[in-house]
Amino acid sequence: MTQRIDEAGFVRAQYESEDNLRARKAAYVNAEGDDPREFAFEAVAEVAPQRVLEVGGGEGELAERIRGELGAEVIAMDQSERMVEIQRSKGIDARVGDVQTLPFADGEFDVVLAAWMLYHVPDLDRGLAEIARVLKPSGRLVAVTNAIDHLQELWDLAGRVTALQKFTFRSENGEESLRRHFASVTRREAHGWATMDEEAVRRFGASWADLASLVTAGPFAEPLRVRRHSTIFVAETA
Ligand SMILES: C[S@@+](CC[C@H](N)C(=O)[O-])C[C@H]1O[C@@H](n2cnc3c(N)ncnc32)[C@H](O)[C@@H]1O
Repeated sequence: MTQRIDEAGFVRAQYESEDNLRARKAAYVNAEGDDPREFAFEAVAEVAPQRVLEVGGGEGELAERIRGELGAEVIAMDQSERMVEIQRSKGIDARVGDVQTLPFADGEFDVVLAAWMLYHVPDLDRGLAEIARVLKPSGRLVAVTNAIDHLQELWDLAGRVTALQKFTFRSENGEESLRRHFASVTRREAHGWATMDEEAVRRFGASWADLASLVTAGPFAEPLRVRRHSTIFVAETA
């Protein structure tokens, strides 16, 4: 059975430490093609924001760039104490909290960034309503997620149907949810490939129960090439 990734207990355990997230990020070390992180950064930068909220920022790479390169004030909120600790060690104003109940007044931010996190939110509509509420008029949400064919070859190797089909916020269904809360929604697709060696495949498998069979994958005659497909949604309030 596929593990739901939008249950609070799963999310808490998954991000209790940075190990699982790092194991999955390691899959993209040898990547070709579009860089979805760069697309997300550009979507934030193009409105020259003064005040940015990042929700679910993990280790804070994007928050650090937004503050350092754009000179914006950045507040970060993540449900994981460990991720908040890592972000604070980088000088980011990070707080433990949940996107479903944001402790901010209406209209406080020019931009909210939600990168690869909305699929974890148990009540997605509540989370999106909160994001829309704390944005100024004509404020921008930049939300990143993956498509069903993302890392298809890894799921094939594990002999499993991709768990992405169950994601509540992915490239194929994200726009519909965003349109319930925002006046306009546009999208940018990031396509590419990643080359994973045996060690990278095994680490990825260890980070996610659905792919646990990959922990003993290999030996490979040659590294595994896997496709990448992410979507950067840009949604704006009226
Ligand atoms: C897949 S990681 C993405 C991290 C980062 N945005 C990146 O691109 O590397 C998801 C992050 O969202 C956080 N998260 C999940 N659900 C959340 C919620 N309801 N409110 C705030 N943060 C949440 C997790 O703790 C984790 O740090």
